[in-house]
Amino acid sequence: MSPSVSTNTQTSNLQTSVAINEPHIVIEGGYPLSGSIQVAGSKNAALALIAGTLLATSGVTVLHNLPNITDIADLVAILNSMGAIAELSQGNATLTVDASEGRFNEPPPHLVSRMRGSLQLLGPLLARQGIVRLAMPGGCNIGARAVDLHEKGLRGLGATWTIDAGCFFAEAPFDGLVGGAVYLDKPSVGATMNTMMAASLATGVTTIENAAQEPDVVDLANLIVAMGGLIEGQGTSRITVTGVESLHGCEFNVSPDRIEAGTYAIAAVATGGDITLIGADFNALSPVLSKLTDMGAHVAQDGNHVRVWSGPVQTLTGTSIVASPHPGFPTDLQQPFTSLLTLVHGTNTIHDSVYEGRFGHIPYLTKMGANIKVEGSVTIVSGVSTLSGADVKATDLRAGAALVVAGLAANGQTRIFDVHHIERGYQELCQRLRQLGARCWHVNVSDTDMLVME
Ligand code: UD1
Repeated sequence: MSPSVSTNTQTSNLQTSVAINEPHIVIEGGYPLSGSIQVAGSKNAALALIAGTLLATSGVTVLHNLPNITDIADLVAILNSMGAIAELSQGNATLTVDASEGRFNEPPPHLVSRMRGSLQLLGPLLARQGIVRLAMPGGCNIGARAVDLHEKGLRGLGATWTIDAGCFFAEAPFDGLVGGAVYLDKPSVGATMNTMMAASLATGVTTIENAAQEPDVVDLANLIVAMGGLIEGQGTSRITVTGVESLHGCEFNVSPDRIEAGTYAIAAVATGGDITLIGADFNALSPVLSKLTDMGAHVAQDGNHVRVWSGPVQTLTGTSIVASPHPGFPTDLQQPFTSLLTLVHGTNTIHDSVYEGRFGHIPYLTKMGANIKVEGSVTIVSGVSTLSGADVKATDLRAGAALVVAGLAANGQTRIFDVHHIERGYQELCQRLRQLGARCWHVNVSDTDMLVME
């Protein structure tokens, strides 16, 4: 049950006073995670799949196993305001989309600007109506996030591309998009997805070289195939798309979220815990699980159950990581992993080769007692014996996840503000952590000026 307490009063169950009437997460650290949780559907796959539903020229598309997070709600709102008929059900886990109408309004800029995932609307809208105008997308502030490869992919199919008044504007040739050879200078997840979606309704064959190999790309390709599309090579660096005249609705299950599962696995090890992730994709988690076992933690797989456990964090051996495109260590987990390394003996480095600016968590980990230096794009962590709870801010989604891991492992109380970043990507985070024995609450101010803890 959710405890409710008056503002500015002592909260007996947390043994602290909460004075700041701003939504935040409170964590009493030092409790090992233990038990099991069901892994949610992948956020990044789900966002692309929702955009992909716009490709269906007939019938309805039903997506199952969606995560219940704000990014999904925002993208569904975008679809509806564009004129598609999109309806969430089953506690927001299922989405039904009818996009058969085929003429869509411009996606509303105020919603587009909330997430990077809205960029995935470019490919399907261009394919369906030959023209698309999209405001600059938002998302985490983690360094320059160029769009030149999205442009290159769509130009490779014959589209023109301009930027006008803060919007991207792409237009297909009069006779429609034509398949072509696209080489991506970097294996961009988003550019691979946009090119694949646009190519699926183009005339002829498109090859995407140096394509992203992330499981989210595979999910999207599999959705398009289930809609009647022709795609080969998904999951490799060379994807071939043979355009078809039309695609139809279908039913599709979103794959489990390897980033959510990886975050819980890291948190379990950071707290010396023992958890089982139900419905996890072991292979997709391998890059992070192998690092955890290198450090002395234990991992066991039984079908889609993955158990992760370890002794006290101070008994682990250090390791260094280089975040890189899949199947490398995922950039989305380098920040939570940094929190784990702050408590591991010795000096270790983290290099993120994907984003140059994923450092928002560092000042706050330092505030909690971590010993961290940043030199260029490399984070150097010298392990300390304890972290101490503190008031901290989530500067982006995964920086927030890093602070949650640190708060769970720290002595005392941590309060994390700007939690809207975390809510973009983690379903019912505090409830799930409490299910694993953590002392963690989401604090909201209710209409009656009470602090509601969920
Ligand atoms: C997706 C994920 C994000 C994850 C990232 C890498 C979503 C909504 N987000 O983001 O969580 O961290 O993959 O796994 O799915 N780049 C260019 N030009 C472009 C596009 C990208 O230079 O046109 C660069 C980016 O700046 C970055 C790198 O390529 O340095 C990878 O970006 P990309 O794979 O495109 O990430 P996203 O699809 O934006």
